[in-house]
Amino acid sequence: MFGLLDAHNPLRSGLVFAFCLLVSNFWSSLMLHAEEFNYDESKVPPYTLPDLLKCDDGTGVDSAAVWHTKRRSEILRMFEENVFGKLPAGKIRLRTKIRSSVPDALDGQALRREVTVFFSDDDSGPQMDLLIYTPVNATKPVPAFLGYNFGGNHAVENDPRIHLTESWMQNRKELGIDNNQASEASRASEASRWAVSTIISRGYGLVTIYYGDVDPDVDDGFKNGIHSLFEKGDAPRAGDAGGSISAWAWGLSRALDVLESDNTIDAKKVAVFGHSRLGKTSLWAGATDPRFAMVIANESGCGGAALDKRVFGETVNRINTSFPHWFCINHRKYNNNEAAMPVDSHMLIALSAPRPVYVASAEEDTWADPYGEYLGLYHAGPAFRLFGKKVFESDKMPEVDSPLQADVGYHMRSGKHDVTDYDWEQYLKFADAHLR
Ligand code: GCU
Repeated sequence: MFGLLDAHNPLRSGLVFAFCLLVSNFWSSLMLHAEEFNYDESKVPPYTLPDLLKCDDGTGVDSAAVWHTKRRSEILRMFEENVFGKLPAGKIRLRTKIRSSVPDALDGQALRREVTVFFSDDDSGPQMDLLIYTPVNATKPVPAFLGYNFGGNHAVENDPRIHLTESWMQNRKELGIDNNQASEASRASEASRWAVSTIISRGYGLVTIYYGDVDPDVDDGFKNGIHSLFEKGDAPRAGDAGGSISAWAWGLSRALDVLESDNTIDAKKVAVFGHSRLGKTSLWAGATDPRFAMVIANESGCGGAALDKRVFGETVNRINTSFPHWFCINHRKYNNNEAAMPVDSHMLIALSAPRPVYVASAEEDTWADPYGEYLGLYHAGPAFRLFGKKVFESDKMPEVDSPLQADVGYHMRSGKHDVTDYDWEQYLKFADAHLR
């Protein structure tokens, strides 16, 4: 374009230059606009949610039986095809090895074990380390929370006896994580997010795993983690091949397989928990594995509990651009095109019905769209009602720090994107009501 400039005709050249500037400003303002995010409720576009209780053939769902035998599987398939993708169904033979067993962890409160789970016959192949806490004074198998941590098992508690995670980690200078390897400096760096002592004193177990054991959180062409078990060679990926969230959800199910033969934990009473990207994961794990007795999604946002069609805070385009490995390739069809999605978060949450589901938000976490998270849960209500469950009556969200609990639970905590003792207090109360 600038080739049109005529150095011999300053007036014409000036006019052409001004025109070019105008065009280029117009494009950059468009680009900028595409990267702007809406935080204004009055600018939420009008949207229509797909009907939870209408089958693909147009018939209505009027009973729990029709939900279970027909509608639920239609919705699950839509999420596999359009959002998370699926992993090959073949059974994997698991092997376990006890790495450590400490009978007096947490000042004598808990038995703490590290159990390595191998996903193949190769000791150097994909594997994950479960960190399992159970109360020492339990007289029978206990209900438990199962969830991934972001910082490695050694980041959960300040005890040098917990092995440093050896898996790939995002570099973080402030935590001494260099060359993608953890160091002593990151020990207990995530302790404030795990109310282990309170969980144990309330009679629950806690099982946690470093999520990067199962699939490193980096766009590596699906070569690492458990993907290497299923995807050989360089064939192009199918549009519905499972991304990292599917891989992480798969890992949670394998952890539950292991817990089923552990006599300290009641595997029929395991609540799957996750924060943020791992909250999206816990919802997908609850949807794909009905053995989870309860599902907790802490500040899960876009692709989690928040309604995507509100286009509030993080968008589908943004999440697929920043994290191209989380979802399946087909999900990209909905970049800047949320209105065309055949599903939304109310259907994701409904896939766990009638099991109790807890969704939590934080007031300052507008990126995750707190109201959209509440509405996702609210609009999942009809599926729970089919089973006679008590859900929320109003689409008006509760005040800050005023939890609402029925057969589903919700709170918006004051403060920022995080997991705090306050959040755990609510989850424990919810678990007392439903897992005891
Ligand atoms: C980013 C991402 C969110 C995600 C969050 C997290 O903010 O945009 O979708 O939930 O990371 O996992 O902490």
